Amino acid sequence: MKTYLVTGGAGFIGTNFIYHLFEKYGNNIRIINYDKLTYAGNLENLSKIPVDYIKNKNYIFIKGDICNDKELSILFNTYNPDIVVNFAAESHVDRSISNARDFIKTNIEGTHTLLEVAKNKWLNKNKWEKSKLFLHISTDEVYGELGKSGCFSETTPIAPRSPYSASKASADMIVKSYFSTFKMPVIISRCSNNYGPYQFPEKFIPLIINNCLNNRKIPVYGDGKNIRDWIYIEDHIRAINIIIEKGKPGEIYNIGGQNEIDNINLVKNIIDIIAKQTGININYSLVKFVKDRPGHDYRYAMNISKIANELKWKPKYSFIEGIGKTINWYIANRNWLNEIVNGEYMEYYKNMYENRMG
Ligand code: NAD
Ligand code: DAU
Repeated sequence: MKTYLVTGGAGFIGTNFIYHLFEKYGNNIRIINYDKLTYAGNLENLSKIPVDYIKNKNYIFIKGDICNDKELSILFNTYNPDIVVNFAAESHVDRSISNARDFIKTNIEGTHTLLEVAKNKWLNKNKWEKSKLFLHISTDEVYGELGKSGCFSETTPIAPRSPYSASKASADMIVKSYFSTFKMPVIISRCSNNYGPYQFPEKFIPLIINNCLNNRKIPVYGDGKNIRDWIYIEDHIRAINIIIEKGKPGEIYNIGGQNEIDNINLVKNIIDIIAKQTGININYSLVKFVKDRPGHDYRYAMNISKIANELKWKPKYSFIEGIGKTINWYIANRNWLNEIVNGEYMEYYKNMYENRMG
């Protein structure tokens, strides 16, 4: 039975990944979800895991920090995971601008701690245990920003511009160094902007949906012309699985949705769809242009030919399909959204947007 160690499994992408693994492999695998449960981690997300899987230890949750080498060593000695998928991170650019401390700690020191513990367990007398893999989940933001044309390939030099992306780029370098120096079986994946179920509403798409549903103004940074390449979560998860199955240790794989859209058109599309799907009386007057994000990257776009040619992956969802499913999910799960929004989130929202909204 393969054992997966999923760090950050109570967050947005980790949650979707865990459900996907159980859907694909059922009780033929074991998943250990190791998560610190920061503001972004929510155990409720995983409440649909069958009780039998918990009883039979196909699913184990451990509350813990990837900076804690003692706890991780016990975990590795107890379960000796075959595949580590490191999602655990501080992930929101705006928060890294307000305070970068936790980003440096978790994203850099935490990734290093996890690598070191895995190396100590998997490397015996200069030989790596067979069939082990450390997959580090990185981001397109490590490449910095693009102008109107061009796209990032895996050989584009990294040039991060926010404390968040700088911390992710640092982690990538450390992960790479464990391959060059120790031949540790590591892979790095770098994906563009995800959207879908269970995403914390500090991120733009769930924030837009939540504000539309509550008839609240939608803060658009700067002139709204910044461009992102949006990928539906299921496409990212499928790519991660293919990388685990067929990826080559030491390699980096770019993943992208091939769905570039600027922020203002993103907002308008979502307003249109929600108005149509729900009959709620909303229109573009909800848009409020606000003070820009400092150092706001203009555009990201991914060249995905490596993963497409070598691993035969490409995204399946068009933006219209993906966003339709996403909006339906948030409408059907308003309780999930309300629980988050009624917690500390409102305090964050006020602090983040009070000055900007004027
Ligand atoms: P998220 O913020 O929703 O979830 C992060 C999870 O990590 C949370 O459950 C949190 O509790 C946990 N965590 C934080 N610090 C921890 C620590 N020290 N130890 C253990 N757990 C800790 O993030 P996400 O959007 O699901 O992103 C997951 C990963 O994917 C991150 O590494 C992120 O950089 C990367 N990524 C995200 C996107 C995106 O669009 N969301 C795109 C590309 C890459
Ligand atoms: O590109 C991958 C990255 O995508 C991930 O590595 C990050 O973890 C993830 O948070 C995301 O980063 P972005 O900064 O691109 O995502 P965010 O949802 O914060 O913002 C998307 C765009 O929308 C960006 O141009 C900023 C803008 N924006 C965002 C918010 C929250 C607004 O205009 N208004 C807002 O209120």
